[in-house]
Amino acid sequence: MPKLTITTRGGQARAVEAQASRTLMDAIRDEGLAELQALCGGCCSCATCHVYVDPAFADRLPPLGEDEDALLSGSDHRTGASRLSCQIRILESLEGLRVTIAPEG
Ligand code: FES
Repeated sequence: MPKLTITTRGGQARAVEAQASRTLMDAIRDEGLAELQALCGGCCSCATCHVYVDPAFADRLPPLGEDEDALLSGSDHRTGASRLSCQIRILESLEGLRVTIAPEG
């Protein structure tokens, strides 16, 4: 169970033990962090699961998908660290991952 650190929009950091094979979106929602809306339930069609991933972990993530890229393009808050958390599967190699929930919209 990789340990992650999730930072809320308010700046509160939370240590989370994530279940391997679930998604990062699931791990955040399992913690009761409802500010990550994830409205489409992980179908890659809403972008309300937007997070910023610590760039130090960028090379351990799956490549940005075409649909994911298109959805993120619609966000005013996109940065180079932006990902959709429903598109990131939790693997043991993500031990120590740090993510911040992106602002709404
Ligand atoms: S939950 Fe909708 S795109 Fe990720």
